[in-house]
Amino acid sequence: MKMQMMENKKRILSAIQPSGLPTLGNYLGALKNWAGMAREFDCFFAVADLHAITVRQDPALLKKQTLQMYALLLAIGLDPQRDTLFIQSHVPEHSQLAWILNCYAQFGEMSRMTQFKDKSSVYTDNINVGLFAYPALMAADILLYQADFVPVGADQKQHLEITRDIAARFNGIYGDVFKVPEPYIGKQGARIMSLQDPSRKMSKSDENLKSFISILDKPDSIMKKFKSAVTDSQAQVKYSPGKDGINNLMNIYSCCRGKDYEEIEKEFEGRGYGDFKVAVAQAVIEELQPVSERFERLIDDKAYLEQCARQGAQKAQMTASRTLEQVMKKVGFYKI
Ligand code: TRP
Repeated sequence: MKMQMMENKKRILSAIQPSGLPTLGNYLGALKNWAGMAREFDCFFAVADLHAITVRQDPALLKKQTLQMYALLLAIGLDPQRDTLFIQSHVPEHSQLAWILNCYAQFGEMSRMTQFKDKSSVYTDNINVGLFAYPALMAADILLYQADFVPVGADQKQHLEITRDIAARFNGIYGDVFKVPEPYIGKQGARIMSLQDPSRKMSKSDENLKSFISILDKPDSIMKKFKSAVTDSQAQVKYSPGKDGINNLMNIYSCCRGKDYEEIEKEFEGRGYGDFKVAVAQAVIEELQPVSERFERLIDDKAYLEQCARQGAQKAQMTASRTLEQVMKKVGFYKI
């Protein structure tokens, strides 16, 4: 009975790199939605450690951050029994299919990827082939599971487009091997901006520590950061074009409380920015507190996390190996 229900559900796949603790922006823009989607879809979520090494990593730190990110998947409310939660490098099919897909991705189209162009202008001393081939690995992540939908933010849209192109091209040659995935556009395409410069996206690599909230920030630090958030000189809580600071705070409040802008404007009618900032901070604290409490408990239970990751990888591999086998057969690899 349970199996049958699972099969009727559409499948979602997404992944997140283990590059340090996510920000409130990552949480509201992606992770919170993952937890929300998990009831409706058959979900596969991975910690993308293979992608992480396209820029140089400290081995001990990568290892630590991989387990942290895995723990965080559980802490945000994903369920290792219901959902398939795994670490990308534990399922070797990802690397195997990525190689094959490299041979069906064109140099020209890969050269047009804006993320490659951006990253190769930042990491000028390490423009490695993996950085270039990154979208083929991402295509492998998605296509191995025959995912129906991929929730992606604006920065990964182009990679999903190329995934679709590669899948369609492969299918064109060999018949229907891959499901061509659709982007999943969430209800709120939350794009959370820096608290200090609201024209820029909130980022954990920002030098100004007051500009971002980390998902594990303590309540008093969250409160301080919101109190010092940059807003314009008008003091009315009203969403209006060009008022990036207040718009950003309203967006955050809206994501946490599930209220639309009109409701928020009404709630804070006649009250100033000071009051509103405190209210936003409180909403964020309430949102993040259960996550950080669960995280703190989980991160000390390494045995449990490893057991979940092992089971997750096994579950993922059941699907991945089936797809890879089909691909290898179609390509004409000799099987014994
Ligand atoms: N490249 C994505 C990012 O950095 C992470 C990722 C890896 C991913 N594989 C994926 C996202 C497959 C969606 C689907 O955000």
